Amino acid sequence: MATMTSLIGLINKIQRACTVLGDHGGEGLSLWEALPTVAVVGGQSSGKSSVLESVVGRDFLPRGSGIVTRRPLVLQLHKTDDGQREYAEFLHAPRKRLTDFAAVRQEIADETDRITGKSKQISNVPIHLSIYSPHVVNLTLIDLPGLTKVAVEGQPESIVQDIENMVRSYVEKPNCIILAISPANQDIATSDAIKLAKEVDPSGERTFGVLTKLDLMDKGTNAVDVLEGRQYRLQHPWVGIVNRSQADINRNVDMIVARKKEREYFETSPEYGHLAHKMGSEYLAKLLSEHLERVIRQRIPSIIALINKTIDEINAELDRIGRPIAVDSGARLYTILEMCRAFDKVFKEHLD
Ligand code: GDP
Ligand code: NA
Ligand code: MG
Repeated sequence: MATMTSLIGLINKIQRACTVLGDHGGEGLSLWEALPTVAVVGGQSSGKSSVLESVVGRDFLPRGSGIVTRRPLVLQLHKTDDGQREYAEFLHAPRKRLTDFAAVRQEIADETDRITGKSKQISNVPIHLSIYSPHVVNLTLIDLPGLTKVAVEGQPESIVQDIENMVRSYVEKPNCIILAISPANQDIATSDAIKLAKEVDPSGERTFGVLTKLDLMDKGTNAVDVLEGRQYRLQHPWVGIVNRSQADINRNVDMIVARKKEREYFETSPEYGHLAHKMGSEYLAKLLSEHLERVIRQRIPSIIALINKTIDEINAELDRIGRPIAVDSGARLYTILEMCRAFDKVFKEHLD
């Protein structure tokens, strides 16, 4: 039996295929929706984009104070073989391989503006980005605009509810794993992330509580009660994180240095030293990928059923337009059909 890691890689391929499919005609979207994703939820500037970057281990997301993330970003990570050059590719610019991650960040910002204008408006239309790298785990992640309590100058009053509705539309799906991001320098009782996660996932089976900004807590206070689950109990253990500060970002502190600093922070901390092995971005990434593997394994039978349904639908469509067809849309359907069959075969082999 192949390893779980390769199985997750397969899921990512299917998601990608179905994204193309959905883009093409609509068939297969349900398949895409049946697979697990990970979304970040939290208030503005709670550190959502920073956490995603840390999980990925690369700098490429626009971050900063205020409303920076204004469109959903659907990010697929694909683990490639060791030694391969890493690159990024946008669905809106296929076959254009970007190896400069500063350019990726710029393109996210530009593509956001293309839809929303250079305003503080938000849009529901997602940006799809794939990253191919030997240094990632296979995951699909979604960066979302931050929940907010008031509209700022230039935003319509409806924005508070609009953002909540958009975020909810992602995290209410039973296949969405929620990274509920709360900053440690704010009262956990007021956390928008925990409030929304509790609403859409009352049992907490798909919610991971992430506490950011531990380094910014008032002197003399600490978050041990939260991290050890005494103050606010979640189904899964809380993970504490120290992301780069705005000063670090301004000084271009790179990811490797940031991770090292984060590790040192926990290992040398008088309060958190005993928890160091269960804290930090790398641990969060590991926890997430283990959880995904469990979820995917449970889903294989229903994924096979969906693939077979897609095969049936495509066959019916091919019958309708008449086969054989050489170079028009039928050829594309054949390709998709072949892909589905291949996926079906591989999945069946994974069923033990
Ligand atoms: P988002 O709006 O939730 O996506 O948050 P960002 O990731 O854009 O971060 C907002 C700001 O908070 C940025 O200036 C980050 O540098 C800063 N920040 C995020 N996490 C931390 C942290 O753990 N410690 C410190 N000191 N700053 C952080
Ligand atoms: Na922000
Ligand atoms: Mg953000």
